[in-house]
Amino acid sequence: MNVETHQDALFAAARAARERAHAPYSRFTVGAAVLDEQGRIHAGCNVENAAYPQGWCAEASALSAMVMAGGKQALAVAVCGVAPQPVSPCGGCRQKLREFAADDCPVWAVDLHGITATYTLGGLLPHSFGPDHLPS
Ligand code: THU
Repeated sequence: MNVETHQDALFAAARAARERAHAPYSRFTVGAAVLDEQGRIHAGCNVENAAYPQGWCAEASALSAMVMAGGKQALAVAVCGVAPQPVSPCGGCRQKLREFAADDCPVWAVDLHGITATYTLGGLLPHSFGPDHLPS
């Protein structure tokens, strides 16, 4: 699959998901979208909680939506946030993405206007531990 052809839809989904963020504590709204192996896009937002550690990130929401829809692989990821620096996935989300994405999976940080940074999952999480480490 040529993931670049899905870029605009992926970015639009991440931006729209950000609008749904529940972030009353940090006020830092994030949306994420993943492209699955069937060419479908799944999106999610961060969902904070009054018991602060119980909140979760946009990437986790997007992956959950993908799994629920039967998606098996994330071929590309977009994260939308508005900040002075590109909003890249936190460490925990890098590992969550690792469960479903290969090292060469593109991860685009975007804002409301365009791409702010382009990464690969392997670049964000080198020498990672993943499903292949476990006996099948
Ligand atoms: N957050 C995400 O949802 N994704 C990221 O990639 C970075 C951080 C959320 C977690 C928290 O709700 C808020 O942004 C501030 O850290």
